[in-house]
Order: sequence, then structure tokens, then C-alpha cells
Amino acid sequence: MFVSLEGIEGAGKSTHMPALVDLLESHKISCLSTREPGGTEFGERIREILLSKTQAPSSVEAELLLLFAARAEHVHTLIKPALEVGSWVLTDRFLDASFAYQGAGQGLGVDRVGELAQWLLPDLRPDLVLVLDTSVTTALERVQKRGQKKDRYEENDVEFFARARQYYLDQAASEPERYRVVDAERPVDEVHQELLEIVLELI
Ligand code: TMP
Repeated sequence: MFVSLEGIEGAGKSTHMPALVDLLESHKISCLSTREPGGTEFGERIREILLSKTQAPSSVEAELLLLFAARAEHVHTLIKPALEVGSWVLTDRFLDASFAYQGAGQGLGVDRVGELAQWLLPDLRPDLVLVLDTSVTTALERVQKRGQKKDRYEENDVEFFARARQYYLDQAASEPERYRVVDAERPVDEVHQELLEIVLELI
């Protein structure tokens, strides 16, 4: 099974990932837990560039190509080999993040992202996409409360995140068998419980 966790900033993906990995391990299922951009050494270097306010490229086209370069390496060296030996792969973001952030949020258009996806990953889509959904107001409040310096993406405005969130919701509505929207406005325990139940159904 190939499962991705998605959602706008502050939705709680990183809080919930470890529990999902623990659940799989408690069922003796081997699982690769990874993230995008990143996962490989090459991908982590690209992540550093993209999250930085001083090193990132100025055009969304260059940004998207870097994201796909990292993704191609990630798929080739980690994701596909893991799936081929029967391991699960759980990733904190994957392709949908490019549709949501660059395609919808930054206004490049989902068709352009789709062209790259078709070229580079014609046969690989997550079996399940868990969309942690919060209002943009909650998301931005949570980012603010972290008290850390914001990365380049977190500096985006409300309209940007509204477009990204809408992409996730529309996509989930159009493919309900592959996407599950989880209301992440609720207390962490409730969200946690629902995520575990969804993943348990797959085991
Ligand atoms: P994270 O905060 O979820 O770890 O992800 C890092 C940032 O990268 C996040 O703000 C979303 C952004 N991102 C994109 O804009 N496009 C992508 O394709 C991916 C994978 C991430």
C-alpha cells in the first residue's frame, strides 16, 4: 500500500505520521516512512533550497521542476523499491502537494503539473491519500502558535492557502475511493483515532 498524507500547513501531518507507522509495525507490516520534498539526500538538499527565502528560485516553473527532480529520485531510489518488496510506503506529502501548491496556490494551473506527472510518474499514484483538512484561519493560527521562524511556503497569504485547500477538497470529491478527507479542526485525539481506523481498514 502506498499512502500519502496531505493538507495545508498546520493540519497536523507530522503529529500523526508516527502513530500510523507504529500501527503498521504493531501489525508486523514493514513500512517506509518518508516525506516530500525530501526522502533522499538529494531531495533533502532540494527541500532546503525550496524552503529558504534566500535560495529558492524566483519562478514557479523552476520550483516545480526542482520538486519533480526530487520526486523522481525519491520514487526511483526509495518508493518503488520499497513497494516492490511488499513494504508499505507512508509519505508526508507527494504529487498532490504540487497540484495544490504550485498548480492551484501559485496559479501555474493543474494541467501543467499534470503534464509532468504524466511524463515522470505515469503508473504511480498513492492507493490512498489522507487529506487533513482545516480552515485556512485555523491553519495559519497553528503556524503562528508554533513560534518558529516561518519558511517560505508558510509566508503565503490566505488566498493562496484557500486555493490549495480547495484543490484538495475538489480532488477528494472527484475520487472518493482514493481520497479520504479527515476533519483536522477537531482535537488531536479524535483525528488520530479516525486516521488509525481508516488505515486499519486497509490492513
Ligand atoms: P511540509 O511543511 O509539509 O514538510 O512541506 C514543506 C513545504 O513544501 C510545504 O509548505 C508544502 C511545500 N510543497 C510544495 O509546495 N509542493 C510540493 O510538491 C511539495 C511536496 C511540498
